[in-house]
Parts: sequence; structure tokens; C-alpha cells
Amino acid sequence: MPGRPPHSATGGFVTGTAGDQSIAGRFGPRILAWADELAAWSESPDGLTCTYLSDAHRAVAGRLCALMQKAGLTAVIDAVGNVVGRREGTSPGARTLILGSHYDTVRKAGKYDGRFGILAAIAAMDDLHERGQQLPFAVEVIGFAEEEGARFPTAYLGSSAVAGKFDSAVLAKQDAAGTTLEEALRAAGFDPAAIAGLARPPGNLLGYVELHIEQGPVLRNEGLPVGVVDAIAGATRFEVAISGRGGHAGTVPMAKRRDAVAVAAEIILLVERRCSTAAGLVGTVGQVLVPDSAVNAIPGRCELSLDIRAAEDGLRDAAIADIKAEIERIATRRKVGIEVHDMLQTPAVRCAPRLQSALAASVAHCGVPVRRLVSGAGHDAVMFDGITDVGMLFVRCGNDGISHSADETISAEDADLAARVLLDFLTNFTTSAAF
Ligand code: HGY
Ligand code: MN
Ligand code: MN
Repeated sequence: MPGRPPHSATGGFVTGTAGDQSIAGRFGPRILAWADELAAWSESPDGLTCTYLSDAHRAVAGRLCALMQKAGLTAVIDAVGNVVGRREGTSPGARTLILGSHYDTVRKAGKYDGRFGILAAIAAMDDLHERGQQLPFAVEVIGFAEEEGARFPTAYLGSSAVAGKFDSAVLAKQDAAGTTLEEALRAAGFDPAAIAGLARPPGNLLGYVELHIEQGPVLRNEGLPVGVVDAIAGATRFEVAISGRGGHAGTVPMAKRRDAVAVAAEIILLVERRCSTAAGLVGTVGQVLVPDSAVNAIPGRCELSLDIRAAEDGLRDAAIADIKAEIERIATRRKVGIEVHDMLQTPAVRCAPRLQSALAASVAHCGVPVRRLVSGAGHDAVMFDGITDVGMLFVRCGNDGISHSADETISAEDADLAARVLLDFLTNFTTSAAF
């Protein structure tokens, strides 16, 4: 391939030239077409919903497995539903670089959140396979089975298992229908006891690199197709259950009410107010559940989900402490019961300077200005923090960067460029340690 930085016979690497324009356009249309294909499997008649272990989810896993095999990877579906494609390195006993992202979605989702990263990695490995170019290190492309927490009140099930951070206590968590995670796994033919064995020994890993859509407007506003992630915001998710007193909407005087939804309204505005006090701090009440509600009944119970994030752990922790304290004061004043259940806590993660520099070099090789940016969204990468070096590359989103929405969009040109940056990164990835 003219101009491509060859992998020299001695295992050394020729630093890339300005990205190999001769393959421009080869990857983008294919990645978008694959994403369209996967989006055809959905649990909802309108829009894309593909939550953990649904029939749609299992169909997507099968298709990803086939795509990985076609790209010359040995592909399997592991005990938690991750789709794992592997190619050995030329150096005997070489360690493994993991490329991954997730294939589950939120409800009424976009087609590219998570899936873009898996498909771009498959496209890059397919290109190397086609050209017979081998790498000295092993590569695993992993489609993580569950990252969103859309079905069970937890998240990162797939990547936490591979990173050795799977907490078996989550097996007892129930979905909205009362099915436990354990029951769902067994019904799908998986053995929960085998999940612990998925953990990769950290010493076997060279690093973890994730391509992902930005899910924000920064790259679009600056006219840039890709960006290198320097940090991933930390996130804390918890549920608040409010127990007031139900009653007849027509007969209970206002002063006598213990209206759970009115308390929820105070909490929602509290979260908005407190999380508007500092740049980089965000708070969201994404779910408001009023069990057994009726137009003419005072709600006795209400359940809220709270999601608080910041790139600074201290900023987030202070906001959470203030919010929890104020919730208790509201409950006392309004004479209602409050239960707070922690769901998820992921600290802010700084991407490894080594991988940031290598990705930045490849962005530059492909003729694009290098922009580093913080990710407000969480990603499977956070599970690998402390296990191995973590790096992320963002691709620009259209439509003002909207995501977790059917309006989520990326262009074939940008997808193509991101895949070429990844290829350049792979063929130039050198580490100080032996492979
Ligand atoms: O919530 C997140 O940031 C990710 O989309 N799961
Ligand atoms: Mn998401
Ligand atoms: Mn995602």
C-alpha cells in the first residue's frame, strides 16, 4: 500500500506518514452500513431499543460475531454476552491491546453510541487482514454486552467482567418486570458463575483504546472531525424512593397532604439548582416513576433516578453531599419517608498520556489538527482505569452533538477518518515494554 507506514521485519515501526490517503473513503460507508444493519434489531416497533439480553440484543451479538470472523478474528461470545474477536501478535507471547465499546443501547437510541467503536475496530482489523499485515502484539476487539444500565439498575456489566471488576452482588438486581440479572443470564443460556473467569490478568494487557462518538457539540462547533480524549467525567447514580401518603384528590386538604410527587418536584429543582453552580458539574433526574398512579389520587410513592457528574471528583462529591443533606431536610419538613439507594459510582478517569500522545500523533499523521477534550459521558474505558492504560478517540457528532436520541448522527467521512486514525495508531503503536 503506497505511503503506508510499514511494519518493518525486525518488529520496529516506521512512524506514519501523513496518513494514507489512498484508502480514504474505504471505511466510512461500510461502518455506517453495518450500523444501519445492527439498528434493524430493536425491542420497540418505533426507534432503536436494544437492552441487555433481549432477543434484539442477542441477534446483534450474532451479527457482530460474524463480522469479526469475516475480518479474520477468532470470535466468541463470552459468559456475559461480550462478543470477543482476537488476533495473535507476531511476537511470541505478545501482550494484548483491547479495542472495544458497547453494543447495548438506551431506549429510543441512536445507531452509533458504542457500536461505532466496535465497527471501526472491526473495519481496521479487516483492512490489516486483507493486506496480510500483522502486528507484533495481540489485539482483541470486544463488543461489550451491557454499558448503559438501561434494563438493570447497574451498568458496565460487560467491561467490568473483562476488567476483573464484576460485582456478583449485581446478579440479584431486578429489571422492571422483576426478573433478576441472574435469571436473565440463565434464560439466555449463560452461566453466571463463569463471569468471574473473564477477567484479563492486567499483566497480559498493553492497553485499552476506545473509539466513540463525542455525544456533544465541541468538535462540531470547532469544525474538527476527531478529538483525543484526555479525561472522562466521573459519575454517581442513585435512586431516591419517596414514601408519602396516597389519598383522594378531591377530599384531602392541601395542608394535610404528604404528596410524594410534590416532594419529587422539590428534589428535581434542587438537583438542577445545585448542579448549575459550577462549570463542569451536571445533574439529571432521568427517571420519575409514580407506581399505581391515577389522575384523581394523591401519589403516595415516587421513585427518582439521580445522575451527578463532574470531571473533578471533589466537585461531584460536594454536590452529592449537599443534595443528599437537602433531600433529608425536605423529607423532614414534608413528613415523608426517603430511601436513597446508590446504583453506580465511577471516578473521573484521566486517559494515559502515552496513549493520548500516540492517538494525537496518528490524528496529525492523518492531516487533522489535534484537539484534546473531556468526555462528559461515561464509557467502558472507565472500567479499565487502574488495570491498564486507557485511551479514547472521539468522532464528531452532527445535529448539535445530540445523543441518546434517534437524531444522533455522524458522517461517513468522519467515520472513515477515525478508522484511518485507528489504523495509523495500530501500525505505529510502540510501547516501551516488550510486546
Ligand atoms: O451514561 C453515560 O454516560 C453512557 O452513555 N452510558
Ligand atoms: Mn450511551
Ligand atoms: Mn456509549
